[in-house]
Amino acid sequence: MKSHGVAASELLQRRLLHIEVRTLRYATTAQTASRLARALAIPSLMEAANAMSPTPRPGHHDAPPDASSEPTEPARRRFLQSAAAAAALGAAPHLHAQNTPEPTPAADTGANAPVPAQPVRLNINGREYALHIEPRVTLLDALRDYAQLTGTKKGCDRGQCGACTVLVDGRRINACLTLAVMHEGQRITTVEGLAGATAPSTIQRAFVERDALQCGFCTPGQLCSATACLAEFAAGTASAATADVRARATELSDAEIRERMSGNICRCGAYANIVAAVRDAHSASA
Ligand code: FES
Ligand code: FES
Repeated sequence: MKSHGVAASELLQRRLLHIEVRTLRYATTAQTASRLARALAIPSLMEAANAMSPTPRPGHHDAPPDASSEPTEPARRRFLQSAAAAAALGAAPHLHAQNTPEPTPAADTGANAPVPAQPVRLNINGREYALHIEPRVTLLDALRDYAQLTGTKKGCDRGQCGACTVLVDGRRINACLTLAVMHEGQRITTVEGLAGATAPSTIQRAFVERDALQCGFCTPGQLCSATACLAEFAAGTASAATADVRARATELSDAEIRERMSGNICRCGAYANIVAAVRDAHSASA
């Protein structure tokens, strides 16, 4: 069986041959033709290249042939036809390889072998969930597809938009960047768990009053993030916008809010109202 390295080098060679043939259409001299024919070792091509070699000029039998001189048009055409045929032949196995189904790989018993689903217990919004999931399942997918808590949104699925923000033991994280099995024994809070039994949380109310959303796709993540943002500020945590990180910040300015909420992107651009809502919630809880 061929290794991938051999197959790749063969494909590369055939590709180069196609390029060479195309190039030769514009600049075919006896020298380049003979070099290509020698490199490819194709008899018909060598014959055609030899036919392109210029005949010595009358009266100059001892002079070496001028390799850069223009070959005759019929000879040039014959060489190009031979090269094109060789390229087509070279490509045939490639086309066949593309149409042939890949052999089924033998069962992988090594590090890449699939790992069976396993029981995982998660505490979400104060309730125990007994899930049966593969270890590779992200917390985001576990929440949405296994626990049926679809309030947490999947935006980018790569840690860039913040739509999937949830709280784990009170700290905000991107649920798309962590595996569910890593959070057994921790307290997970999603947007469904922010409200009290009978009333929305302060930050939820502020978002409604400030109309801090348009399509609402980013809002669950914004709400979880804002909840943790206020808790972090109350705990004296500094941010990149804090003027003096050695002193405890006393005022949650708009610049602080913007910086602390910068991990949550809103494609609708509702930022002005989101900042106002966080400010209101902070004032209400101060
Ligand atoms: S979906 Fe997780 S950061 Fe975008
Ligand atoms: S409200 Fe639409 S993405 Fe934020």
